[in-house]
Parts: sequence; structure tokens; C-alpha cells
Amino acid sequence: MSEPRLEPLKRVLKNDGLEAVALVPGPNFRRLFGRDFHLMERPLIVIVPASGDPVAIVPHLELASFSELGFPGKVFSWQDETGYANAFAAAAEALPNLKSSNRFGLEAQRMRVFEQMALATAFPDARFVDAHAGISSIRLRKTPDEIELLKEAIRISEAALEATLKTVRTGQSETEINGQLIRQLFDHGADGLAFDPIVAAGRNAAEPHAVSRDDYRIKSGDALLIDFGGSWRGFSADITRTFFVSQVLDDHRALYETVLAANQRGRETARAGITASDVDDAVQTVLEDSNFAKYAVHKTGHGLGLDIHEAPQIMRGNQQILEAGMVFTIEPGLYKTNECGVRIEDNVAVTDSGIECLTSFPRDLRIIG
Ligand code: GLY
Ligand code: MN
Repeated sequence: MSEPRLEPLKRVLKNDGLEAVALVPGPNFRRLFGRDFHLMERPLIVIVPASGDPVAIVPHLELASFSELGFPGKVFSWQDETGYANAFAAAAEALPNLKSSNRFGLEAQRMRVFEQMALATAFPDARFVDAHAGISSIRLRKTPDEIELLKEAIRISEAALEATLKTVRTGQSETEINGQLIRQLFDHGADGLAFDPIVAAGRNAAEPHAVSRDDYRIKSGDALLIDFGGSWRGFSADITRTFFVSQVLDDHRALYETVLAANQRGRETARAGITASDVDDAVQTVLEDSNFAKYAVHKTGHGLGLDIHEAPQIMRGNQQILEAGMVFTIEPGLYKTNECGVRIEDNVAVTDSGIECLTSFPRDLRIIG
């Protein structure tokens, strides 16, 4: 790793008036250093000051891997049996200007409390601030190469979904279908999972983030909602399709067609130069103008990349202007509690002339099983 790799972060430090930022393993770390480490009980922290070299606090067992980064600053390692306090103290000694820093930025949606407590002990007079949005802004616009990685994750995921659907039968449990989907993702080339897939049937589909059940057998007339994604080289797909088992009730068909219309409105509306709020407003208006308005419970979508839920959040009130290179989901849903839920989720990239829809799995209502 060469110093220029820290340039995006140095710009954030300057623009946001931060004296330093501390990073833990995760998407921002990966974006800067090209690989990630486990976020576990052993703290691994990189501190990047606005001026001068960064320092790192690294668990002994990760030293060999960390040395491959070519990190351009001092590294303070620590052993399991002696603990990490001395490494934090040594890092603070190496950064004397930060001891009473007034703006020490943290990844507030990522760093755990024990890590912040260790920093606070080492930098007792520092004032820590939430720098999540600024730091994560280094990932807001994807490069063409990154969009290619996303496309590969999506290609793998869509092929895996189609292969899974061919095996779905009435009487299977949600966990059986989930297991098949995970196998198909790896068989089709995924190198990881975006998250534990959501496979939810019948009344469970009405829970936006349901947990798959092993004691419920899918039956005729159930909606079957599948929200999942494979990863490729750190980038993840996040796709939802909702199917119906053997038959569909008229009311559920109407629910489906409403969500589909909202999804389509989102894909037709999104483009560079308008706000994230504008897109959500267009999508929510379709839901609100329908007979099912009371079943809408969440925003249109979220940014997608090295993280699964990242900026830009596609929601009313977010005045973020959409720009070419941003990638996000369009995933309206309607959830009729205890009965049926439908969500249709696509992944789109903003271009100079509109959007490119990266997902192409058919959206027309499909009966399976
Ligand atoms: N999957 C819907 C949401 O997280 O907003
Ligand atoms: Mn999503």
C-alpha cells in the first residue's frame, strides 16, 4: 500500500475539519487497504491523523497478514495474554498532537464500545465525534471496476435463484429452500454471502426481515419471499423476488402488482441530479395511492457496495443529490401482517444519462412449486 491510497481519507479529514480518524475492520478499511480483517474480540485499529503518518494497533496473530499491506506508519502489536492497553498507550505516545484533539473522528456505526473505551483511555482529553458519513463518503461513487464486481455478484446470484426455484416443492420448509439457495450461490461461483438469506413464506413473508423456519411447510397459495445476495471480491448483490406457491389469491395478486408498479416507478424516476428523497417520494406515492397504503413500512432502498446498507439512503428527507457511480437498491414492499408480504428489489447504478439496472431477474408474477 502506498501513501496515495490514504488520499481519499485525507480529503475527508480536511473537508470535515477532523484532526484524525480511527478505522476498524470493515468496508472503509477494505476500500482503503485492499483487504479486510476480522472484527472480533481483539481490537485492530488504524489511526490516520490529518497530518503525519498513520499508526496501527494490531493483534499479534494478524501481524503477518497486516505486514502485507505495506502500511506506511508505525505498528503496535499486542498479545492475547498481555492485552491491548499498552499498544493503545504506545500509539498515543506516537501521536502527541492528538492527546487533546478536539475532533477525533470515529466510524460510529462500526466501532464497538470497548474499542472506543480503549481509545478514550489512551487519549483522555480527546473529543470524539461521529465521522461515519464523512469516512463512508469515500465509497459513495463506485468506479467502473467496482461496478463490474457488483455485476458479477448479481449475475451469480440471479443464476443461483433460478436454479433454486427449479427445486422448490410444496411441503418444503423455508430452511430447506434457504440451504439450497446457499449451495447454489457457491456452486455458481459466489465467494461469500451478502447476509443470511431471507426465505419467508405465507405469514412469515409479512415480516420484512423474517427468519426462516424449519417447522413450517410451504403450501398452495403462500407467497414465498426470497431476499438474498452472493458476494464477489467484497461486493454484494441484494435482490428480492416474491413468488407464489401453486396459486395466487386475487387480493395477493393486487398487492403484488402494486409493489411492482412502485418498483417500476423507482427505476423510471432515478437519475443523476435529483435527490434520494425525490426517488422515495415517487415510489411511496404509488404505494400511498393504492388500497394497500397502510401496509407500507419502509423506505425505497439503500446504497450497495462493500457494505450492504450504505449511503445513499433512498428515503424522503435525504437531500443527497444522486450522481453517476452511485449504486443503490429499489425495493418497495407491502406487508399485510399475519397474511402475506411482497417485496421486489432491484440494484441500480446511476449513469450520466439515467440509471443502469444491474439486476435483470424477471419481475412478472410467477407461480412456482
Ligand atoms: N429490506 C427493507 C429495508 O431494510 O428497508
Ligand atoms: Mn436491500
